[in-house]
Amino acid sequence: MPKATTQFVCSECGYTSPKWMGRCPDCGKFNTLVEEVIAPTPAKKAGTMSKPSRALPLSKVTFEKYARTSSGISELDIVLGGGIVRGSLVLVGGDPGIGKSTLLTQVAAHLAKEHRVLYLSAEESCSQVKLRCERLGLNSDNLLLLNETNLEAAEESFYDVEYVVVDSIQAIYTDSLTSAAGSVGQVRECASKLMRIAKSRGITFFIVGHVTKEGTLAGPKVLEHIMDAVLYFEGERTENFKILRAVKNRFGSVQEVGVFEMTGEGIFGVSDYSTLFLSDSRGVAAGAVVTPSETGNRCMMVEIQTLMAKTAYGLPRRMSIGVDLNRLVVLIAVLEKRCGVALGMQDVYLNAMGGIRLGEPSADLAVCAALASAERMTAVDKFTAVFGEVGLTGEVRGVSFADKRVNECLKMGFKRVILPAKNMKACEKFQNKIELIPVTYVTQMIKALFPC
Ligand SMILES: Nc1ncnc2c1ncn2[C@@H]1O[C@H](COP(=O)(O)OP(=O)(O)OP(=O)(O)O)[C@@H](O)[C@H]1O
Ligand SMILES: [Mg+2]
Repeated sequence: MPKATTQFVCSECGYTSPKWMGRCPDCGKFNTLVEEVIAPTPAKKAGTMSKPSRALPLSKVTFEKYARTSSGISELDIVLGGGIVRGSLVLVGGDPGIGKSTLLTQVAAHLAKEHRVLYLSAEESCSQVKLRCERLGLNSDNLLLLNETNLEAAEESFYDVEYVVVDSIQAIYTDSLTSAAGSVGQVRECASKLMRIAKSRGITFFIVGHVTKEGTLAGPKVLEHIMDAVLYFEGERTENFKILRAVKNRFGSVQEVGVFEMTGEGIFGVSDYSTLFLSDSRGVAAGAVVTPSETGNRCMMVEIQTLMAKTAYGLPRRMSIGVDLNRLVVLIAVLEKRCGVALGMQDVYLNAMGGIRLGEPSADLAVCAALASAERMTAVDKFTAVFGEVGLTGEVRGVSFADKRVNECLKMGFKRVILPAKNMKACEKFQNKIELIPVTYVTQMIKALFPC
């Protein structure tokens, strides 16, 4: 077989060059040349024609049923859409130290009870992995450990196993490319090789992927395209609670999330997550409001806390953890302009409890309520929840799953819910069980919370 050679291709304009250059001579962009393998095309024999594929009617197409295996962690099974599908590639991404290796070690040890499992650790030595297994109380002879960074060398160990954990894709390299491990070309090539192995031999791969400073997966976007499922670990490193979210899943919904707790004995799924994101000082301190947040297919009560301090310098500071900073800035402007809440000379700090990220606009009204409460130095009643989207004119817009949110408030013992007037019809059935206060403008919400 002729030896595969490589070339450098500009990821912006497609310019090719036999050697690496810092700047593409064609489009002028810097650092865009990525190494690629030039696969030699096999010479066709004269007179031979490849057989064309036939189109089939839908009724004639046979399909394979996906056999699912439990990972031993029910929250992970939920995120995967009901269990692990044989022959699939699952990418687990997340910040450093969030618990990727811990989770996958536990999954590997569970699977090793009935299957042959290989843990390919390119980042840690076998003794480090064993140390972790000892700490987590895991032990199995079917769990094989391998410390190797070269993919071709590791491939030999893939022959008689059913599950492989690769920790991590950025630490392994293939001989086909000359660039360093972790480079865009290497990550892409290694992932494609693993995909070919997975599909041809029916091996299931769990692959750890690191994230960049911006929080996206390091490496090319094509990495996510190759995978069958892409899961992200979210949460602050200092918080014990982490959320596992599917951003792509070929075998299930991406609406599901898993809630995990990190302890010294390992990472565990939390099924009772109802009070995780609420503080004990609720209703005492000013600036805290609870909102029912729809994360994945679950509704969780999340406390939003705000703090205000007089600006020391000319420019007021805004800081937000868990809510988009731009969103916070817009809501501050709405409060100033439409509701007369003076925040221009105040530094504003906001935190969503428990390290959760509130991505949906339904938290807007609760953010406004928390800011108004902090500005007035008056605490909001402990049993009042607030939800709704806020527009730039100061109006409150309806949100999805309003009845589910009110139901969660009811379940959690809340007595009052301030909600968008547009959602009132869907929630009428709860009227005799919980006090519902419909609002059309943010000013109405402030009046309802602070009557005098
Ligand atoms: N002895 C210990 N006791 C309690 N917790 C520990 C102990 N050792 C590690 N941890 C926890 O495990 C976490 C590290 O987990 P893990 O190694 O699985 O992370 P990771 O996501 O794989 O990180 P990396 O990206 O660096 O590989 C630490 O943040 C820490 O909270
Ligand atoms: Mg790790």
